[in-house]
Formats: sequence, structure tokens, C-alpha cells
Amino acid sequence: MFITFEGGEGAGKSTQIQKLADHLTSLGKDVIVTREPGGTPDAEKIRDLLVSKHTANWDPVTDVLLLFAARKIHMQELILPSLRTGKIVLCDRFTDSTRVYQGDGLGVSPDVIESIKTTSIGAFEPDLTLVFDISPEQGLTRAHKRADETGEGDHKYEGFDMDFHWRLYNGYMELLSKYPERCRRVDATGDVISIAEAIFDIVTAYPESGCQAARS
Ligand SMILES: Nc1ncnc2c1ncn2[C@@H]1O[C@H](COP(=O)(O)OP(=O)(O)O)[C@@H](O)[C@H]1O
Ligand SMILES: [Mg+2]
Repeated sequence: MFITFEGGEGAGKSTQIQKLADHLTSLGKDVIVTREPGGTPDAEKIRDLLVSKHTANWDPVTDVLLLFAARKIHMQELILPSLRTGKIVLCDRFTDSTRVYQGDGLGVSPDVIESIKTTSIGAFEPDLTLVFDISPEQGLTRAHKRADETGEGDHKYEGFDMDFHWRLYNGYMELLSKYPERCRRVDATGDVISIAEAIFDIVTAYPESGCQAARS
């Protein structure tokens, strides 16, 4: 089963992916946690370019091309081989992030994104996508707190204006109605433990039959 975690900056994706992995592992499941862009050494090199602030003014179609280049490497080297051996793969961001950030956020047309997507990875989609619902104000407050605590500095998109972050938010909410068979909303405003419990309920209720034809 391939489960993706989606949502804006500071929504709690990276926190919750680890919680779910720990829980599933404690039940004896074979789980791997990965992330995008990146996930393998070569794809992480592409990530370094994409997340660097000096590329913030690139044409967003360039981002889309690099994101799918990295995604294809990640799928071929890690995601598909892991799924074929029966592992549960948890991925922090995937194609939906490209749809929302480069599409809704930066104005690349959905047709262009879907055409590059189909050319690079075909019909492949996650079995289940958890869409974290939290206002951009709340999410960014968390993200800034994280930056202060870790000294990591803020991420490329954290400095973009609030209009941009609200376009991301609306794009994510639209995904829920566009792909209702695989997307589930997660109320991300509560405490870490109650969100983790809600996510575990969604995952255990989800039929494991959503295997993709494109995977075989
Ligand atoms: N439910 C929560 N309540 C309060 N703080 C949270 C919660 N979930 C995560 N955090 C904190 O908020 C920051 C951002 O969380 P993170 O998981 O890194 O978000 P994301 O990966 O979606 O950007 C981190 O410092 C994290 O510890
Ligand atoms: Mg994160």
C-alpha cells in the first residue's frame, strides 16, 4: 500500500508520518518512510536545487519537469520495488504537491502538469492520500517555530505571501473532491496524539485493494 501525506507548510506531515510508521511497525508491518522531492540519493540531488531559495524565481514549468524527473527516479529505485515486496510505503508529499504548489500556487495549467505527469510516471497514483487541513496562518506559525527550534531556516515557500498560501490551501481542499476515492481529509489543528489516532483510524478503515494497474 502506498500512502502519501499532503498539506501546506507546518501542517504536521513529517510529525505524523513518523507516528504512523512507528505504529504500523509495532504491529509487525514492514514499513518504509520516504519523502519528495527526493527519497533516493540521485533524487535528493534534484531536491537540493528545487528547495534552494536561489531557484525561487525559476519558471515554474522548470520545477515541474525536475519534480517529475526526481519522482521517476524515486519510483523506479525505491517506491515500486518496495511495493512489489509487500512493504507499506509512506511518502511525505507526492504528485499532489506538484498539482497544488506549481498548479494552484504558481499558475502552471493543470493540463501541462497532467501531461508531464503522464509522460513521466503514467497513471500511477497513491492508494491513499491524507490531506492535512489547517489554516496557512496556523501552519506557518508552527513552521516558524520549527525553524527557530532547529535552526534550519525557513523553507523556500514559507516566505511567499499569504495569497499564495491560501491558494495552496484551496487547492488541497479541491483535491478532496477531485479524487474522492483516494483522498481523505485530516483535521490537523488538534494535538499530535489525537491527529495520530485519527490517521490510524483512516488507514485501518481503508480497503487495501486499491492496487494500481500501473504498478504491475
Ligand atoms: N499537532 C501539532 N500541534 C502543535 N505543533 C505541532 C503539531 N504537529 C506538528 N507540530 C510542530 O509543528 C512544526 C511543523 O510540523 P511538521 O511535522 O514539520 O510539519 P510539515 O512537515 O507538514 O511541514 C514542528 O515543529 C512540529 O513539532
Ligand atoms: Mg515536513
